[in-house]
Amino acid sequence: MKSLEGRVAIVTGAARGTGAAIASRLVELGATVLLGDILHDEGERVAEELGERAIYVPHDVTKRDEWERIVTRAVESAARVDVLVNNAAVLHLGTIEKTPEDVLRRLLEVNTVGPYLGLRAVVPVMREQRAGSIVNVGSVDSLFGMNGITSYCASKWGLRGMSKAAALELGRDGIRVNSVCPAGGNPGMYGPWMSQLAGFMDETRAYTENRAIPGEAPLDRIAEAVCFFASDASLHCTGVDLPVDGGAHAGRFIPGFNTL
Ligand SMILES: NC(=O)c1ccc[n+]([C@@H]2O[C@H](COP(=O)([O-])OP(=O)(O)OC[C@H]3O[C@@H](n4cnc5c(N)ncnc54)[C@H](O)[C@@H]3O)[C@@H](O)[C@H]2O)c1
Repeated sequence: MKSLEGRVAIVTGAARGTGAAIASRLVELGATVLLGDILHDEGERVAEELGERAIYVPHDVTKRDEWERIVTRAVESAARVDVLVNNAAVLHLGTIEKTPEDVLRRLLEVNTVGPYLGLRAVVPVMREQRAGSIVNVGSVDSLFGMNGITSYCASKWGLRGMSKAAALELGRDGIRVNSVCPAGGNPGMYGPWMSQLAGFMDETRAYTENRAIPGEAPLDRIAEAVCFFASDASLHCTGVDLPVDGGAHAGRFIPGFNTL
């Protein structure tokens, strides 16, 4: 991977899980990273573990003034923002009838409006620099539909569409916008639904095992894909959706057919 020495990155939802893994890899590659989240104790702890080039900034992606604060902090301390990783998101599992309107609105607010506010906050700085890389963390659910998660799919497909349109709008200013679409992340995201999912263990296992590469994507592999887009290794890539999904997007794996 190309070095990110001297680069400044903002990672949202970085107090745990995928966001923390992304922040860690960015720091390892030489970047200074502002970690945002609404989980302040966890965020402070992760930043402390990552060392002096990691700074935790309380940051709710749904609040415009908090976007201004985190971008101002980056500009004040380093006079630039090279990378924005829109990683923060919330999940909801529930059928259409069981998903109240306010839950749908919250998902769209965090998962889609939040990254849009992020674009609005960093684009003026990146335009001035005539360079920047925005990486949106989508999901395999940005590429496919799945029953029982309609509200989450809507928010993630919205983010993916936004990435493509923004890539076209910003390319001539030297700003790239790409999506990383993992099948896997922090199992903690499923916390509130674990007891319900316990009734579907065989189905869940089949979903994750019947892929070219079985199982969920490890966090460090998702982080590596994000860092590819963050770095100059991907200078001619924009508007890309990169699945990190063990080949789930490639089609269906039928176990018995490997012995035909
Ligand atoms: N967990 C999975 O299986 C999975 C699968 C595919 C894609 N993803 C995506 O990966 C990304 C990271 O998720 P994760 O798996 O690490 O789960 P996670 O729940 O550990 O991480 C999400 C982070 O976002 C933060 N967050 C939530 N609302 C916020 C807000 N309003 N402002 C700022 N931060 C907020 C949370 O506090 C948390 O730290 C998300 O975009 C998610 O949709 C996750």
